[in-house]
Amino acid sequence: MSVHSAHTKITVNTLAKMKAEGEKIACITAYDASFAECVNEVGADVVLVGDSLGMVVQGLDSTVPVTLDEMVYHTRAVARGNPRALLMGDMPFMSYCTEEQALQNAARLMQEGGAHMVKLETTQGQIGIIRRLVDAGVPVCAHLGLRPQSVHKLGGYRVQGRDDVSAEAMLQEALGLEEAGADCLLLECVPAALAKRISESVAIPVIGIGAGVGCDGQILVLYDILAISKGKRPKFSKDYMQGAGSITAALQRYVDEVKSEAFPAPEHSF
Ligand code: KIV
Repeated sequence: MSVHSAHTKITVNTLAKMKAEGEKIACITAYDASFAECVNEVGADVVLVGDSLGMVVQGLDSTVPVTLDEMVYHTRAVARGNPRALLMGDMPFMSYCTEEQALQNAARLMQEGGAHMVKLETTQGQIGIIRRLVDAGVPVCAHLGLRPQSVHKLGGYRVQGRDDVSAEAMLQEALGLEEAGADCLLLECVPAALAKRISESVAIPVIGIGAGVGCDGQILVLYDILAISKGKRPKFSKDYMQGAGSITAALQRYVDEVKSEAFPAPEHSF
């Protein structure tokens, strides 16, 4: 049984309650109004306008060139088709280097785009920026683990936190972000055991992608669910179009499998 009715608007409080009551949070990315409607129809709790749009919509080979104007444009489009899910907007590369810059750009995503929460790819050094956003009333999701905007610094798209030192550092970072007031965490490409440990160590919801079934919720890129992403699909994604008669049926199966913990299976995890 769900902690909320099918028509209740999802807020940060709903997500916190879902974690407290053990209901898994189902999240999907979307980049336009029509898909936002589909994502809402199948009962996803969170819709993320991810800067992954640079790769799946614009055909770029990384998210690095995506601009704030582009994020505002797509977030506004998604907002028009989004009656119920919590709308999370990604802050693109280099848009949150200082507290002032982060405040101005988060304001644009919320005021012009209609986002309910912003997501930042975070390191230890950005805890002050998170605290400043939170103090200003901005709901924040802090993205840890593989941070695709740093792909050139990380030397590729690699699983993070594999050794004891980096695993401990990530746990401490998660605790620091919770203390700074982040409303949720997103862990990308993190060993399942570490992601479970982090999820159990913080009171705020933890959404995983390639982070195992022990997280409080899951997210996948819409185009991976529909198996229309160009290039090789990541190990952590699943083709839900196989055997589904329609896009809505595929998305519904994903949401149902997140809720029942059938997804992610061990083969989607590290
Ligand atoms: O940009 C995005 O879509 C993301 C997801 C991969 C979590 O950050």
